[in-house]
Amino acid sequence: MSRSAHPAGPRHADVLTEGHYSAPAADLNVLDEKVWSRTVTRDADGALTVGGIAVARLAEEFGTPAYFLDESDFRARCRAWSEAFGPDADVFYAGKAFLSRAVVRWLKEEGLNLDVCSGGELSTALDAGMPAERIAFHGNNKTVAEIERAVEAGVGRIVLDSFQEIVRVAHIAQRHGVRQRVQIRVTVGVEAHTHEFIATAHEDQKFGIALADGQAAEAVRRALSLAGLDLIGVHSHIGSQIFDMAGFEVSARRVVQLLAEIRDEHGVELPEIDLGGGLGIAYTSEDDPREPHEIAKALSDIVTRECEAAKLRTPRISVEPGRAIVGPTAFTLYEVGTIKPLEGLRTYVSVDGGMSDNIRTALYDAEYSVALVSRTSDAEPMLVRVVGKHCESGDIVVKDAFLPADLAPGDLIAVPATGAYCRSMASNYNHALRPPVVAVRDGEARVIVRRETEEDLLRLDVG
Ligand code: LLP
Repeated sequence: MSRSAHPAGPRHADVLTEGHYSAPAADLNVLDEKVWSRTVTRDADGALTVGGIAVARLAEEFGTPAYFLDESDFRARCRAWSEAFGPDADVFYAGKAFLSRAVVRWLKEEGLNLDVCSGGELSTALDAGMPAERIAFHGNNKTVAEIERAVEAGVGRIVLDSFQEIVRVAHIAQRHGVRQRVQIRVTVGVEAHTHEFIATAHEDQKFGIALADGQAAEAVRRALSLAGLDLIGVHSHIGSQIFDMAGFEVSARRVVQLLAEIRDEHGVELPEIDLGGGLGIAYTSEDDPREPHEIAKALSDIVTRECEAAKLRTPRISVEPGRAIVGPTAFTLYEVGTIKPLEGLRTYVSVDGGMSDNIRTALYDAEYSVALVSRTSDAEPMLVRVVGKHCESGDIVVKDAFLPADLAPGDLIAVPATGAYCRSMASNYNHALRPPVVAVRDGEARVIVRRETEEDLLRLDVG
């Protein structure tokens, strides 16, 4: 199926794929803990509660659509990652998954570092008090102004992504009279997605500098020769929503090989490697993600083994999980507006949000789950497609799922695992107002990113 965006209009055959869906769960009222955040449960009335607050109250107070983020789950996941990797490794939360000032404060309190990839993310991090030395700055085309800002702030590392950037960062650092700590992002020839990975000799993509043809070795040579740069290591990020550790294994092996080559050529052992993010989460009951401690053990075993073989000191490892930390901690709450049964096909359930608050289904053909959360129901399961309110047939939130057949306008339904890449990729398409993010913890709910208003839209439109 096409992974690219499609023009407005019916998606024809791919919309109506028979058998795309799995069988309904035995009991639609059961909330699978794999896909829901940790404090989610149903109360005695059958309504979903998160952090001890029922969704009806949340909907009344904050409106729909809205993202509800389970703060204690977020913090627990931060701790699980940092404990799993231990004091000899660093966990950088990838801010692109979802970033706000509150999130930065939680990360800071939980001892995590932060990966940012734009001036906007950097300013959010600094504004919320993340110490600059705990920030890594990424991006394949950082502007001079962004690099200046990062160097002036004293970020802990800039991840260099091209030959031009090696020189650019070196000049800027020298102008500021500092030696900037940097890593070089290499493309190791591995592309991983979910259950598979592909290892190729060359990579056709915009990120990083290829290991192939000695490109990465040449980049290292240049970086080592420039006074403004303190080259601390090599970085590799191989993909997204990965369950299979084999891709990381190939990546780690190739990165360690490069460290050995650098040692042989320059007599220096670079002290750090970063293996990026990309660890998968459960969007549906069929996904089986690994726990942070399993991931940490697998990665550190691979690196240790490869370093022993190459007679290298084991470098300090860092990782950059975004989705695996924030993804499972939030759900999107919608109100059902209209219900259209299409005889012999499925029932279309329209909600008050859509591709503007979750573009992932349209963009990546992503799978999601959905549940009726304002009440329980004993009605038969009906096959539904949850769609939004946008002027586009591809405006699908959940492609195929089962909801009770007595679903009615006004019911609240929720899509779990929307913490990552939903609010952060939200748009104003059709002048939609981007929903708020509400943090819920121990019986209290507070807005951390407020709902957009029509005044917000008009303020940008200078007429
Ligand atoms: N580090 C680097 C250098 C990255 O490029 C990324 C993601 C991450 C870490 C974090 O990856 P994570 O652990 O969150 O998978 N919008 C897409 C995902 C794009 C990810 C881009 N880079 C999605 O919604 O699935």
